[in-house]
Amino acid sequence: MRYEGTTALVTGASSGIGSEFVRQLARRGADIVAVARRGEELEALAQEIRSATGRQVHVIPFDLSVPRAGRGLAERVAEAGVRVDTVINCAGIGVTREFGDATEDELRRQLAVNIDAVVDISHAFLPQLVSSGAGALVNVASLTAYMPVPGMAVYAASKSFVVRFTEALAYELRRSGLAVMALSPGPTATEFYGTSGTEGSGVRFQTPQQVVAVTLRALQRRNPPISVVSGGRNRFIRRLMSVLPKPVVLRLAHSRPAQV
Ligand SMILES: NC(=O)c1ccc[n+]([C@@H]2O[C@H](COP(=O)([O-])OP(=O)(O)OC[C@H]3O[C@@H](n4cnc5c(N)ncnc54)[C@H](OP(=O)(O)O)[C@@H]3O)[C@@H](O)[C@H]2O)c1
Repeated sequence: MRYEGTTALVTGASSGIGSEFVRQLARRGADIVAVARRGEELEALAQEIRSATGRQVHVIPFDLSVPRAGRGLAERVAEAGVRVDTVINCAGIGVTREFGDATEDELRRQLAVNIDAVVDISHAFLPQLVSSGAGALVNVASLTAYMPVPGMAVYAASKSFVVRFTEALAYELRRSGLAVMALSPGPTATEFYGTSGTEGSGVRFQTPQQVVAVTLRALQRRNPPISVVSGGRNRFIRRLMSVLPKPVVLRLAHSRPAQV
């Protein structure tokens, strides 16, 4: 896949894995549309990218928890006069709490950002992605997609949705020229661990740089995989969780949610 002369839209671009996608895609020659709520962080990143790479960066501060986020975002992108070749749906929210202790608003926002926005954005941008045929659609899931995680029940289930949805979409689009991929990182050193409440549990983290490099390498293959778990240790955990008896999986995932 060549990125020169193409434009990549990245959600969750204000921090963590999303901002690293922006950096690595811009270094490979892509212009960028950077989306998240925090406009100041996006502007700072845009300045960094422009002076480091000379690429164009459009900043769109946008709350993806609103209804029909895909349509709203597509309108903003069209107003900016941009057509998009690649979409990285990276924005996500994790709440670590027993289900009964989470507030309605936390649950609603988690589902809206992790599921509704991913579906809406994929749908709203699909025509231009397919007509470009030069890019990719990457939906960021999680290692937690592959197991039930007590204490992060809604988060893990929302990421299972992302994997299944994306794999099916990849099959539907197998002859379109668009690479469609679900990316499942394991524990990664980002702000996520502050905001999801899973910090400080002796976890072995990957860096966002490693996660993004794995993804972009996978997209370079002649037939990119439709689903990628980042890191050998995380792939081992995924396999282990698929063969262990469910009560053991539940106990392990509950006692060490940040390990998965
Ligand atoms: N870190 C990990 O260990 C890990 C593991 C597996 C999967 N993941 C997944 O990787 C993705 C990126 O997470 P990260 O680790 O990079 O965490 P992060 O640093 O907390 O980044 C999350 C991003 O999502 C954006 N976001 C959250 N709510 C939003 C909303 N309502 N509207 C628009 N943007 C919103 C945030 O931007 P604003 O706050 O500026 O809106 C931020 O840019 C997520 O989908 C996460 O589930 C992370």
